[in-house]
Formats: sequence, C-alpha cells, structure tokens
Amino acid sequence: MKSFLLLLLTALSVTSCPQVKEEVQNLHPLFDISEKELMESISDLPAASREKIAAKAQVFLDLILQLLELPEDLLILADKKHILGKQYIPPDLINLEGYSFSLAGNKLELRRMIIPDLLAMVESSREQGLELLISSAYRSYSRQELIYNNNVRSLGREIADRESAKPGHSQHQLGTTIDFGSIDDGFASHPSGIWLAEHGWQFGFSLSYPPDNEKITGYRYEPWHYRYIGRHAARITREFFLNEQQYFLEFWEQKSSFFRKIRIR
Ligand code: DAL
Ligand code: ZN
Repeated sequence: MKSFLLLLLTALSVTSCPQVKEEVQNLHPLFDISEKELMESISDLPAASREKIAAKAQVFLDLILQLLELPEDLLILADKKHILGKQYIPPDLINLEGYSFSLAGNKLELRRMIIPDLLAMVESSREQGLELLISSAYRSYSRQELIYNNNVRSLGREIADRESAKPGHSQHQLGTTIDFGSIDDGFASHPSGIWLAEHGWQFGFSLSYPPDNEKITGYRYEPWHYRYIGRHAARITREFFLNEQQYFLEFWEQKSSFFRKIRIR
C-alpha cells in the first residue's frame, strides 16, 4: 500500500509539473546573448583571440557596448580590399596650426573629433621629455594619387604597393591617421617611436601596420603610421584581438550590426 501511494505521488508530480524551460543566462545585463551565442559570433577569429574573449566575456561585451556609441565612420575599413571612393571627405577637418603641436608642414589637417585625445597624448609624451612630430595627416584622394604614382615611378609597382595605398584605399583619407616623426624604419627605435608603441593605445591610437604582418594587412612594417580608433577600440584591439587592428576592424565590419541588434535598451 505504502509503495503504491509513493508510486502514485511520483506519477502525479511528474504529470502535473509544468515543463521547466532551461534558463539561458545572458552574459551581460545590456546584451541579449548567451555564452554559446557569443562563441558563435566570434568563431571566425583566431583561437588565441577566442580564448581571451571567452575568459573575459563581460569585459569584452562592456567594451563592445562603448563602441556602439561611436560615430560609425570612425571604425570603417580603408584597406587593400575596401575603398573609400573619390568622394569621401571627412566632415570635420580642421587645420592643426592653431594648436600646440609640432608640425612638419603648414597644411596639415585632421578630424576635429580626434584633437582632444591627440592633445592629451602629446601632453603626456612631453612629460617624458619627448616631442611628437606630426609629419603627415589627412590626405585627399588626389593627394594620395600623386604619392602613389610617384612611388610607382621611383620604386616600381611591386615595392610601391607594399608601402603606399592606392588612391581611395589610404587610411590617411579618413582624417584620423597620422605619420609621426621621420617616416622611416629608424622611428621604431627612436624614443618617440618606442613611447608611441607602448602608450599610443591609451589615447586611442593604434599602429596600423605592425612588424611581420604583411600577410594580414598587405603593407610592410610602418612604425610611424597610427590610426585613431578611440580609446575603447584601441583597448579592445590590444586585449582581445592580439593587437591586430586589421582583425578588429574586419570583425567590427562584420559584426557591429549584430551587437547593435541584441543590445537591450
Ligand atoms: N603608407 C600607407 C600604407 C598609406 O599610403 O596609406
Ligand atoms: Zn601613413
């Protein structure tokens, strides 16, 4: 009798119990995303990068959240495969002469939005007794065309393609990219070059063409060429994308709309 009652109770509890839906926890309070979904979204990245993201998923998503606040054209690709086009002119170009920068010419322009972080970086380098020289900044489509064609004439097309972008493909046309100092290989071991490589990211500046990286970017090492991507993007590139700007920007091009969609408002 006792065992019959026990059987009955068990049967009742099984049939009357509502189906318990497996609860999938979001990884971040402001994103509708589970661990499995996050891992799927980063499946194209190198293993070392995926491991870093998996280990600090919340920090990663928190940085992604900050990136969604940025003007969209700050993180667009301008590389061998992605062209800006003849018409692209940044909306807020400003001449650098009115500021306390060291300039290699009098027609240097950059986007106004990057000036506060650039000033902060220059100030910080001065505290270390360094003077960052701005040698090249915004370049229009036609200016880049001139540079590229000159390089082809003097170096031949093969070498020119390793060191200069075709018109429409240069990060300089974005108005957020700077060549510092001597614009030669010696800058890598110059105190300013060493300081920039260590500290540039803290102010949002990212080295576009690192050493031994030609297979990824298509360009040889340029220790002088920094693109401003903003402080959060520079941090995420360093912490989660193996300090490869190209990996981060390609990822952002493919996935930013996904993260925008799953953001909880
Ligand atoms: N030197 C870089 C690749 C440029 O021309 O934009
Ligand atoms: Zn450059």
